[in-house]
Amino acid sequence: MREARIHLDAIRGNVARIRDLVAPARVLAVVKADGYGHGAELAARAALEGGADQLGVADLDEALALRSVGIDAPILAWLHGVDVDFAAAIDAGIELGISSAAQRERAAGGVVHLKIDTGLSRNGVPPAEWADVCARAAELERTGIVRVRGVWSHLANAGPVETDRQRARFEDAVAAARDAGLRPEVRHLASSEAALASPELRYDLVRIGIAMYGLPPAEGVDVAELGLRPAMELAATVAAVRRVPAGEGVSYGFAHRTERPTTLALVPLGYADGLPRAATGRAEVAIGGRRHPVVGRIAMDQCVVDVGDAPVAVGDRVVAFGDPATGAPSAEDWARAAGTIGYEIVTRIGPRVPRAPA
Ligand SMILES: Cc1ncc(COP(=O)(O)O)c(C=O)c1O
Repeated sequence: MREARIHLDAIRGNVARIRDLVAPARVLAVVKADGYGHGAELAARAALEGGADQLGVADLDEALALRSVGIDAPILAWLHGVDVDFAAAIDAGIELGISSAAQRERAAGGVVHLKIDTGLSRNGVPPAEWADVCARAAELERTGIVRVRGVWSHLANAGPVETDRQRARFEDAVAAARDAGLRPEVRHLASSEAALASPELRYDLVRIGIAMYGLPPAEGVDVAELGLRPAMELAATVAAVRRVPAGEGVSYGFAHRTERPTTLALVPLGYADGLPRAATGRAEVAIGGRRHPVVGRIAMDQCVVDVGDAPVAVGDRVVAFGDPATGAPSAEDWARAAGTIGYEIVTRIGPRVPRAPA
């Protein structure tokens, strides 16, 4: 009835393309949040097949879940709770993003990437504490207690002036780490937007999320022109069709009334499946390669499509979004209709929608 078809060849191809674009920098494929909704294991395997050098996730549990299905590539995990215990992750060979002195003290036996907050004001060691954190990390490294593999930060993507400022702070932090005696093998700063646009921000490694799924990291980035292809297609089969007269109310609150006699197709995808209710009145789907408007309020399990006089029948395949090259709306189209970003559309596909590798 519903599926999120995951085009693994698209993920492989996107990663291979990005690898070429950013070389000689290496590629860390970001598969947090269930691989941006695509299925973490599916996305991770496809990314590695496409040539990703390593994987990245937010939570340790996400990293351990990948290990438990037999993925043995290097994985970096960077977002930790206050009372985090790194033991299981260190045993499993998970690399740890370290954002505080307290985390560093808990990382005995581990491989770490020290994160400096260069201005995003989220995770990361505050600049005032950076020299101390590096000095102590160097001491721990000398005594064989930790290995500092990376120094890194995350950009706000807030425009060229802010990016330059973050870049300068990052370079100062790398220099301070070296002054403290650290010799990090990888410096990394850029995620998709900066990695695709700015060679000077690529350093040794780029952390690629949204672009490997074939979606744009920012307004105005033409992914097709970059040779990238959306990997997810959200589809369903028409559950019912009904011919209605003009003036008929559709879905809750009758937010829509038919303007003429028309055919309505019931599609079993709703906001529980990831179609944002906020897109009501502005979204389209494709049936048989033709676009039709979603009319009336998007409900929890279903929505209604006005197909006019098109010969749509029960069982026809409906594509809510996918690759626009096939005539379907894109996840970006849905994002615009709902006032959000493509990232949110794909990561919010609900748990009852099976991910079907294709
Ligand atoms: C620390 C970090 N690096 C990289 C990424 C990947 O970002 P993008 O999906 O824009 O490539 C994220 C995602 O939010 C992140 O939190």
